[in-house]
Amino acid sequence: MKPFDIVIVGGGGAGLYAAMEAMKTNPALNIAVLSKVYPNRSHTSAAQGGANAALGNKAKDDTIEMHIFDTIKGSDYLADQDAVEVLCSEAPKIIRELENIGTPWSRLDDNTIAQRPFGGAGRPRCCYCADKTGHTILQTLYEQCLRKGVLFFNEYFALNLSVNGSRSRGLIAMNMKTGKVEAFPAKTVIFATGGYAKMYWNRSSNAAGNSGDGQAIAFRAGIPMKDMEFVQFHPTGLRKSGLLVTEGARGEGGYLINKDGERFMARYAKEKMELGPRDLVSRSIETEILEGRGFNSPAGKYIHLDLRHLGADLIKSRLPQIREMSLNFEGVDPIEEPIPVRPTAHYSMGGIDTDNFGRTVMDGVYAAGECACVSVHGANRLGGNSLLDILVFGRIVGHTAAEEAGKFSPATISEAELKESVDELRNRMQPSGHYERYGALREELGQTLALNVGIFRESSLLHKGIQDIAELKERFKKVRVFDSSDVFNTNLMQVLELQNMLELAETVAVGALAREESRGSHTRIDFPVRDDEKWHKHTLATLVDGKVLPGEKPVTMGRYELQERTY
Ligand code: FUM
Repeated sequence: MKPFDIVIVGGGGAGLYAAMEAMKTNPALNIAVLSKVYPNRSHTSAAQGGANAALGNKAKDDTIEMHIFDTIKGSDYLADQDAVEVLCSEAPKIIRELENIGTPWSRLDDNTIAQRPFGGAGRPRCCYCADKTGHTILQTLYEQCLRKGVLFFNEYFALNLSVNGSRSRGLIAMNMKTGKVEAFPAKTVIFATGGYAKMYWNRSSNAAGNSGDGQAIAFRAGIPMKDMEFVQFHPTGLRKSGLLVTEGARGEGGYLINKDGERFMARYAKEKMELGPRDLVSRSIETEILEGRGFNSPAGKYIHLDLRHLGADLIKSRLPQIREMSLNFEGVDPIEEPIPVRPTAHYSMGGIDTDNFGRTVMDGVYAAGECACVSVHGANRLGGNSLLDILVFGRIVGHTAAEEAGKFSPATISEAELKESVDELRNRMQPSGHYERYGALREELGQTLALNVGIFRESSLLHKGIQDIAELKERFKKVRVFDSSDVFNTNLMQVLELQNMLELAETVAVGALAREESRGSHTRIDFPVRDDEKWHKHTLATLVDGKVLPGEKPVTMGRYELQERTY
């Protein structure tokens, strides 16, 4: 295959924005997007609530500065302040740019772009398209990429980076339609593959495919992961499935109620109530449940999200998907009854360590969006800053790679290297002797993570989690694929996804044990206080000779000094 200038792995918002921007920067470049699903089915389509930008449409006194401060405070002061400044300053431009290329934002009565309150934000600044914001953004971007002639390789499963010393030669991927392993030689590779929270399995809001493929590939290639211990639990997942019920539901005025009929958030965040930041609201819900004020059901413990007082018209116009999902997955119509909810693993704050331009330590390899850790979210991301992150940093990384691709000579990937990847897959597909099935391991991984590396963490639980993961990794060596076909071998793909999740799960649990403090989403009951002296730093995890080597990096400070975080 002719070498590419840029290969983008992932067809969600970050990947598509990167492709669109790279094409704009240099239309002569040969750019490919590889995606394991059709791009308009990427997980960005599940982002419901919106994207933050200080437009000042709803609250005239909102400012970019307030958005910066809310984000840094929300991150529990672990975000890099220069990166946050980029995120928030670019936000109004990017929302308007999306509007210009066709995103159908909801409107206020004066016809400006609508904005709703979101957790941890001092002003209502979350721009939305009803409760289908990610879906509409994804459609807009895909359409623009097709229009600009971006080359798509849909239903390709990324396997490995091809590496030569300190630089990449491109990517090796499997065509899911034929089972053929193919080389994508490239001057630059951008990872935009989303998060890894599906490792929590059915205690996660994520799509089944959010298995951290990009992070795991980069990790195996020796690129450091940053802040992996920080996993965000969204306060309101549906009780049975863990699927997301947008924060927009609380932004529109929804209440959280315990079994005694109490709006219990008054106990935890007097001022912000249901619109506290996610780490605080999730901890509050779990505390209510642990202290016996939740509801019981065969499908697990939960509390209520009550929208009834908002009325049928508002629910139908601004939260139509929430109503549909509540009906389909819980058999509850939120116009008539409260929705049963419980916190759900939602977002990976950690990821591939990058600079503010998406560069990694490996020449020619970049990352953006949830798979990257820039870091703009630190220890806790604010709702509405995720879509913003993929847009702003998707654009930046696309531009950077387009500018820098010329620095690198065209790459080739040898037949011998391709054959190694093929042999590895074939090996998995030869059932013999004692074997394990991936399905059981995947469930067990989710269970141990939810129990031992969940919202509340503690040394003995974390040790247990680490031990379980090590045992699961051992058992994984015996996992075999029983479907021998080449065409859409989903069995093989799920095994590969499990491998990626297991590799990353270790870094999450080990990082969580090492970090002896409580900060943002990482709550240690044995170290309940934030310890800035010892732990105001990023952690790194690098794979060296098959072992995870811990490291650290300072946090970039700016205008905002460390402060106590109260809401
Ligand atoms: O609650 C939500 O709609 C999720 C938004 C986000 O994760 O930013």
